[in-house]
Amino acid sequence: MRLADRMSMVEESATIGITSIASKLRREGKDVISFGVGEPDFKTPERIIKAAEDALHNGETHYTPSAGIPELREAVAEKLRLENGLDVAAENILVAPGAKHLIFEACMSILNPGDEVLQFTPTWVTYDACVSVAGAKTVWVKRNMGEKIDEDALKEAVSKRTRMIMLDSPNNPAGYVLGQDELRFIRDIAVDNDLIAISDEIYEKIVYDANHISIGSMDDMLDRTITVNGFSKTYAMTGWRLGYAAAPKDIFGAMMKLHQHTVTCATSFAQYGGLVALKGPQDNVMSLVKEFRTRRDMIVKGLNDIGFDCMMPDGAFYVFPDVGQLGFNGSALSEKLLNETYVIVTPGIAFGPGCENRVRISYANSRERIAEGIKRIEKALNK
Ligand SMILES: Cc1ncc(COP(=O)(O)O)c(C=O)c1O
Repeated sequence: MRLADRMSMVEESATIGITSIASKLRREGKDVISFGVGEPDFKTPERIIKAAEDALHNGETHYTPSAGIPELREAVAEKLRLENGLDVAAENILVAPGAKHLIFEACMSILNPGDEVLQFTPTWVTYDACVSVAGAKTVWVKRNMGEKIDEDALKEAVSKRTRMIMLDSPNNPAGYVLGQDELRFIRDIAVDNDLIAISDEIYEKIVYDANHISIGSMDDMLDRTITVNGFSKTYAMTGWRLGYAAAPKDIFGAMMKLHQHTVTCATSFAQYGGLVALKGPQDNVMSLVKEFRTRRDMIVKGLNDIGFDCMMPDGAFYVFPDVGQLGFNGSALSEKLLNETYVIVTPGIAFGPGCENRVRISYANSRERIAEGIKRIEKALNK
């Protein structure tokens, strides 16, 4: 009764909840294999740590300009121009404690109660929470596994109330990467219906046999797109809490107001680490993707060999198999694996309607643990 009505619209984060269960069981001394995590299990590269350390010693321990240190905003703008084809300036760049916070700020800046937001399911758990807190409503567009987006379904989902479309490519949990033709179709829908797009590109570098394309680089999209990205996944910097967005001037201004009154700025010395991450050699990114590719191939084969229906994802570091034919829905299987084997996976239901029979399995875990986890899963299924 003491809580605001809006809080009844938001569920706890299923993925963070799963991570807490894993930590609790570990504290109790259980040999947990967590396939629940959404973070690379690699160390942040040494040169980035050194830059943050130097910044601490050099007295960079104070508030920075709210939008971020000028050098980092410049470096981000340059990266987006050169790698993503976005014609943006440093004035459009907002640096924040994580991409997640920027998505929240963008939703709060754009959406009015009653507005509708198009989202493909499955998708990341946080978007719908942000949309709901802003008083708006998600209109789900089902995406069939292994197929391109359903153009008719997308067209039909647009109404007079549609304000925005959320895009996550590469996608969490299924690893979809939107192709040129799909993005072109989405672009046409956005332009024809005067929609704003939030494009979450946090997994852009973790792609295997696909190319990442930023929708903001397409005709007439830059002024209606907020491109969100960050350091968490590419540079194994989840705990640093550092992300950035490029936004058109009016939206940037609104997000800045929220930024100033909530976080003030991203952590000062983390920003110096981020600067070196972007400016320095990128060899760690290549080795991270190489290792993830090996694990992806290993986990897809391992799961299919024991009866799962698991597709090969194009990006990110998750698989999202259907477990219906094993005789379970996603929640029942997750519970069974947790209770009987201390293997943690995330129930598919967390990722939107139509995902009840799926589980998300993160392969941000060592090859040894992946092999052991698959053995335990097989044993549990054969009981
Ligand atoms: C699709 C997606 N976007 C954003 C984030 C969070 O990024 P950050 O750590 O920069 O807040 C995650 C983390 O799991 C994610 O999966």
